[in-house]
Amino acid sequence: MIQGARPYNDTAAVMPPIYQTTTYQLPSPEAGAAIAAEIAPSQFYTRYGSPNNKQVEALLAALEGSEAALVLGSGMAAVSTALLSNLKAGDHVVAQHTHYTATMSLLSDVLPRFGIEVTQVDQRDIEAFARAMRPNTKIVYTETPTNPTMDLTDLRATAEIAHAGGALAITDNTFASAYNQRPLALGYDLVVHSATKYLNGHSDVTAGVICGPRALIEKAWEHMRINGPVLHPFEAWLLRRGLQTYGLRMARHNANALAVARFLESHPAVSRVYYPGLESHPQHALAKRQMPGGFGGMIAFEMKGGYDAAYRVIGRTKLCILAVSLGGVETLITHPASMVHSQQTDEQRAQAGIAPGLIRLSVGCEDVEDIIADLAQALA
Ligand SMILES: Cc1ncc(COP(=O)(O)O)c(C=O)c1O
Repeated sequence: MIQGARPYNDTAAVMPPIYQTTTYQLPSPEAGAAIAAEIAPSQFYTRYGSPNNKQVEALLAALEGSEAALVLGSGMAAVSTALLSNLKAGDHVVAQHTHYTATMSLLSDVLPRFGIEVTQVDQRDIEAFARAMRPNTKIVYTETPTNPTMDLTDLRATAEIAHAGGALAITDNTFASAYNQRPLALGYDLVVHSATKYLNGHSDVTAGVICGPRALIEKAWEHMRINGPVLHPFEAWLLRRGLQTYGLRMARHNANALAVARFLESHPAVSRVYYPGLESHPQHALAKRQMPGGFGGMIAFEMKGGYDAAYRVIGRTKLCILAVSLGGVETLITHPASMVHSQQTDEQRAQAGIAPGLIRLSVGCEDVEDIIADLAQALA
């Protein structure tokens, strides 16, 4: 949180007011016409922008180190807007085999329906990204670490491959979050987040953000203005409030998750732990290079007893709440094979490394002894 910066709040209120209005009185017909022609005016019509959105956009741009930012009504609005505002029929996208499930549908079902081809490659294989590039490749789209097996993509190398081919490099930074990983500093052009997760951090707002250079953010805004996935002022206000504790929360998520990962790795009922902060993670060296802030709060682990053992554990936890989503102050537990990737076939899940005995944890900010005690009793 940048202390002292109070953009778009010229009141004396320390906490900014909520501009719960859809429209603004215009000072004169001439001034109204001038405001109507502006890009992203803050007080014209709420689909175009609002002071609450501008306030949180200024903070998010500072957090990712970008020139500008645009908040939207969900993480998927940010993903689809970042992609669609830079694509047209006949273009080609290089992406990964594994992405967030709705992003996978966007890449494999929606974009091809509009004449945009997508090649998906193993994210751990840099050569595969280079081989997939074509003269009409406009975007290299990545996500690291990915859900749920915590595979990493080399951000610096993929940005270089994108730029060598004249394409934009865009990444989803939701899982690592800006505290831990700064893709723009590694050469990326645009960063998207589901702000529903760590940025807000309280599991009470659905929001998204795109961060990047002003020209690309203005293109994204124009796309949002037409398609309409607006973030409402109260949600923007809540997101801003969540960000006030962002640094505190992220430091705690990182420390708690590392301790929980080490506990799980030493437990006899667990066959494997997926966490980039563990020395046993196959890409730990890359994680140390490109995640200087820490390794985040997401962990997956596999039970020796497979599906039945996993179901027993998630049925027994008391502190860890059985729920999808991630990045809030409370620890959440899920069974990816049946609760997130249930539309996929057994074969597709096996290919993505989602075993029946796999459990995913979004490690929260509780006392770590309490999280470990809860898991210990559930695993016993
Ligand atoms: C990595 C990632 N990207 C994007 C999204 C979509 O975000 P939202 O649910 O806010 O639309 C999610 C949601 O879980 C996610 O995990």
